[in-house]
Amino acid sequence: MEDIQFIPTTHLKPKFTDPSKLGFGKVFTDHMFTMKYEAGKGWYAPTIEPYAPFALDPSCMVLHYGQAIFEGLKAYPGPDGKIALFRVRDNFERMNRSAARMRIPEIDVDFAIKALIELLKVERDWIPRAKDTALYIRPTIIATDAHLGVKASSTYLFFIILSPVGPYYAAGLDPVKIYVEDEYVRAVRGGTGFTKAACNYAVSLLAGELAKDKGYSQVLWLDGVERKYIEEVGAMNIFFRFKDEIATPMLQGSILPGITRDSVLKLLRHKGYNAVERRISIQEVCEAHAKGELLEVFGTGTAAVISPVGELRYEDHIMEINHNQIGEVSQMLYDELTGIQNSRIPDPMGWMSYID
Ligand code: PLP
Ligand code: COI
Repeated sequence: MEDIQFIPTTHLKPKFTDPSKLGFGKVFTDHMFTMKYEAGKGWYAPTIEPYAPFALDPSCMVLHYGQAIFEGLKAYPGPDGKIALFRVRDNFERMNRSAARMRIPEIDVDFAIKALIELLKVERDWIPRAKDTALYIRPTIIATDAHLGVKASSTYLFFIILSPVGPYYAAGLDPVKIYVEDEYVRAVRGGTGFTKAACNYAVSLLAGELAKDKGYSQVLWLDGVERKYIEEVGAMNIFFRFKDEIATPMLQGSILPGITRDSVLKLLRHKGYNAVERRISIQEVCEAHAKGELLEVFGTGTAAVISPVGELRYEDHIMEINHNQIGEVSQMLYDELTGIQNSRIPDPMGWMSYID
């Protein structure tokens, strides 16, 4: 691969002044990384350039057939002025699994990490330092052939943009209300549910908005065949703390294998909890709640971190969980995970990497 070309911006943007007003995904840094692909040639022209709009042909294939995938990870302030990254390789490896399913060419993971590091070094002053903030990293690939006709594109654009963020939910660590969706479905086995493909998010919007109209912040999806088994939430995986175990839906191809999900399973097992991956029916959740044996429910995700669920609604059952308070395991996981990510506590699993 060629060297990365650097085209500095001539107009630095003013930096945010109040980190508590960052929100999520609204502010973008001065530069982005881009790289192109052409069949027969491979990936080429890696460039760090000013953050700016792209010019796309109206017949550009991503606009018609939706070949688009993305990732989401975060950079944190590290010790001694270093930049800290959490499980960065896992994100780019997952991006390649999304690419394979969407007939998008894979990227060289080592080169992608190198490009990200170069970009972060240029943008290091954008990493926010306030509590519950981080620099969100959004690698993306889109199909760019100017052509109408359903087939895989022969050209692509890979880009990485950076956004200083606060909490994904305005509620922060306060419990969220979740609506169990029993009509629409997100994914089925054999489909694209396990990928971070843009299409998965497009199909989720209608149900999400209907749930919002009813006062719920997200939907919990049920399986696409029987609408019986729990899948995941719009932007996070889900965990249930029952009396004797902490359970999360197993990976069967229809949900995103979340990196936070995997980290939480490992942290729980490391601490001696009985953490299991299995099929969980909504019926079982309702019954456990009725018996007082549903102790905590929480979501996990890069954007959402650990997000306690205070209320679940399924059909006419409204289930309040843990008196609408954050539970002890959710709080412990939040403290551990953000402690590791912000280098406040040791990193027993070797998840962090540091950039000088
Ligand atoms: N599920 C969906 C649909 C998501 O968009 C996300 C966010 O990336 C997650 C789960 C959590 O995945 P991760 O922990 O890798 O961020
Ligand atoms: C993430 O957690 O990284 C996500 O991508 C969730 C959402 C912003 C789509």
